[in-house]
Amino acid sequence: MRKIPSRAGAKRARGGARNEPDTVKPESLTPLVRQYQQIKAQHPDDLLLYRIGDFYETFGNDAKVAAEILNITLTRKHVGKGQTLPLAGIPYHALDAYLAKLIRAGRRVAICEQVQDPKEAKGVVRREVVRVVTPGTLVEENLLEDKAGNYLVAAARHGGNWGLALAELSTGALAATELSGEDARTTLLGEVARIAPAEMLATEEDWALLESLWRETFGAGGALRTRVDKGMVRLDGARAALLGQLGVTTLQGFGAEDSPAAVCAAGGLVTYLRETQRRGLGHIRELQIYSVRDTMLLDATTQRSLELVRNMIDGGRAATLLEVLDQTRTPMGGRLVRQWLLQPLQDLEAIRARQDAIEGLLGSAPAREGLREGLRGVRDVERILGRVHCGAASARDLAALAASLREAPAIKSALIVLGAGALKAIGEAMPTLTALADELERALVPEPPVSVREGGMVRDGFDASLDELRAISRDGKGWIARMRAAEIQRTGISSLKIGYNRVFGYYIEISNAHKDKAPADYIRRQTLTGHERYVTPELKEQEELILGAQEKIEALEYQIFEGLRTKVLAETGALQGLAHALAQADALAGLAVAALRGGYVRPLVDGSDLIEIKAGRHPVLETLMAERPFVANDVRLDGREQQIWLITGPNMAGKSTFIRQVAVITLMAHLGSFVPAHAAHIGLVDRIFTRVGATDYLARGQSTFLVEMTETANILHNATEKSLVILDEIGRGTSTYDGLSIAWAVVEYLHGKARRRAKTLFATHYHELTELETTLERVRNYNVAVKETSEEITFLYQIVAGATDRSYGIYAAQLAGMPQETLERAREILFQLECRRTAPADEGGAAQNGQTPSHGAPGRPGADLPARVTTRDVDVMQMDLFEPLMPPVFTELATLDVNRLTPIQAMQVLEELVKVAKKMRG
Ligand SMILES: Nc1ncnc2c1ncn2[C@@H]1O[C@H](COP(=O)(O)OP(=O)(O)O)[C@@H](O)[C@H]1O
Ligand SMILES: [Mg+2]
Repeated sequence: MRKIPSRAGAKRARGGARNEPDTVKPESLTPLVRQYQQIKAQHPDDLLLYRIGDFYETFGNDAKVAAEILNITLTRKHVGKGQTLPLAGIPYHALDAYLAKLIRAGRRVAICEQVQDPKEAKGVVRREVVRVVTPGTLVEENLLEDKAGNYLVAAARHGGNWGLALAELSTGALAATELSGEDARTTLLGEVARIAPAEMLATEEDWALLESLWRETFGAGGALRTRVDKGMVRLDGARAALLGQLGVTTLQGFGAEDSPAAVCAAGGLVTYLRETQRRGLGHIRELQIYSVRDTMLLDATTQRSLELVRNMIDGGRAATLLEVLDQTRTPMGGRLVRQWLLQPLQDLEAIRARQDAIEGLLGSAPAREGLREGLRGVRDVERILGRVHCGAASARDLAALAASLREAPAIKSALIVLGAGALKAIGEAMPTLTALADELERALVPEPPVSVREGGMVRDGFDASLDELRAISRDGKGWIARMRAAEIQRTGISSLKIGYNRVFGYYIEISNAHKDKAPADYIRRQTLTGHERYVTPELKEQEELILGAQEKIEALEYQIFEGLRTKVLAETGALQGLAHALAQADALAGLAVAALRGGYVRPLVDGSDLIEIKAGRHPVLETLMAERPFVANDVRLDGREQQIWLITGPNMAGKSTFIRQVAVITLMAHLGSFVPAHAAHIGLVDRIFTRVGATDYLARGQSTFLVEMTETANILHNATEKSLVILDEIGRGTSTYDGLSIAWAVVEYLHGKARRRAKTLFATHYHELTELETTLERVRNYNVAVKETSEEITFLYQIVAGATDRSYGIYAAQLAGMPQETLERAREILFQLECRRTAPADEGGAAQNGQTPSHGAPGRPGADLPARVTTRDVDVMQMDLFEPLMPPVFTELATLDVNRLTPIQAMQVLEELVKVAKKMRG
């Protein structure tokens, strides 16, 4: 047996033996280490967990990495003739927990097992890598998020096209798409952003081609990037791999013969899965070829800024659209809603089918509740099946499967009774598999253990020979108890015990005080301090019976489990059909419940050139606002008259909320959901573009402004007349002049370009932009209403027609608790600036915080740009800070009626004014 270094002690300081080399001379290595090195050579990029007895060990650099990630002791192992290597190990039974940490740290882990019984080994036990666990190939329940897919994707090129394929090992899903044209790469990464895979495969060469765009999209993150050999994604090999996997002779049936790049990517995926899993992939039975044009494109920016599945605060699910819409009862339904949300439809018929289903579900409360009740008992059939195929399922999984199957008939009939939209077809096509449920239930105890090797899974009465063995085992234990009583009687030692351990088996134990009384037929086996242990031929005989029975029970139960597994495998197709139907039913019922809770209505979705929402609300914000009501707002955008809405208003007035809410409602309509409004008419939108407030770009090492401009450029290049564009405060990251100029030009561009006239909502703090309404025919000014008294401002959150020319920045500063002194000083500066605005040109520019504008400010339309900085600069100051309330004294003046003042009062007013004037002079 190998000596296991003590792991109980404190974590040894790392690098204690820093000077020892980590490379070793091969001639002098022990055979075990030589075997290790051979295996490691085949997995240079993987962290190799090497099974030795009860431990998985890591060596060399792997050990350093593992010690770091897992926080385990790093020691050194003697590997032959005075040489050592870094070593770190974990106990085999804790593999799952440690594996989770390694995978989360973005590692690929090769698991090397002893594949030979050590008793039979001559020399070193034979070992093999049985599986490579990578972030994209997980099936274990505790490593996966219930309600999110865990995807592996591959990109490949063929004949100028890019192919993108995705697979989910835990469910058996496999899909691919072919991308052509100039922006194929951009589209590809857009898809990758939508899928949000855990891992992506591509050749070295292709990674190089994607590199800069990848960094732009994902920064250092995105997914684990795995390099694969060119051969893996070459067409002939890839096609062969697919044909083999899908068990067909042509890919025609999957519509894949005309998508060679997609085939390359999908075939590459299948090969990679085979190489890493080295076991069944029987649940991958279909290849779905899809087109990105079938769904609305949602780039990474839009997903992020609309907070669809992750919030901007911590990337979590709280306060996202998904959280509001996902009212499902099963993980399968939850994953499907997520998928729907990220793949809004472009097909009116499909949208209406979902709407009809939701309407039907809302129309019949009893049927809906019946359906939901049934779904409550359904477990993750899809992933259980995946685990059955990958050899990772337990009897507990099969019992959960049986329980789920039990619910199927009631769910099926509820769907047929409801009969609306997609529901009827889903119900009718849904297999119920009652025979399999019966079989599983007859065989398995209600709550089987997690381990499949230790028995206890199968019900009494299911198998006659198992019952017999169990009787022997039970009887054996009774026999031991009876023997103990008899021996106590015979020897007169009342403390006599019969114990068991794995080395000596059953033994009789007598304390030293009584050892003289041991009968002659006792054979001494072991002497301990204080005790002697004995056996008798009779005891050993019984032991053989008991242990033999137990061993046989475990083997037989495993065999029965394997039989059940095979029966489940045989129903793969039907089970996948069932899982699919359950997921759909659950997702639709979940959307219906979301609609019910939120008071949503069915939008009219058609091919028109219109986005019209009456009394729309933000579905997430309205649920978060507890104490005050959410103010609803209308919008109407079209391509002919009201293409661009410019929305101005004070800080915190609700501009950003409003423009996002329009985007979110439009998106919800495209996924077939009902929407938070009184009424909505939504013409199909090909893409939603967003450019909204700065998020955490520092982590990506790009300046905020550069990101903003990149994203804006992307919008201008790709928006069409069918797109919806949401722009929030663009131009903020640079000087006022630059910012306003850019914002101005962007509006002109979106307005002017034929076939690019995207419907646009533009929230801006540059009130100068509102002048565009007079020259650009499809631009409309709107602002957010506020109620203003001399004391305070009340936000009404109501979007009304017309422009504002101020933004109450100082008032916001006051609300934020800025020191009174600062506020007053700000008011004074502002007042001076306002005064200068009307004074002759020459002295301006001083308040630009030392920034020298690189361009002149854009003049009023038609005017020449000023050659040098003038007081006009004051005009284009960002309203935020410098456009305040009137100084209080003027507010008061405005209320005075001079004719009614007494001379004394007039004097007092004058005195006040003089005071203010003096203060301002400094
Ligand atoms: N329609 C609304 N009804 C009620 N409160 C709202 C509404 N819109 C916004 N708010 C509140 O105002 C806050 C600021 O809104 P936001 O859209 O960020 O303002 P802005 O972009 O104009 O600075 C929100 O966090 C919310 O609390
Ligand atoms: Mg805002």
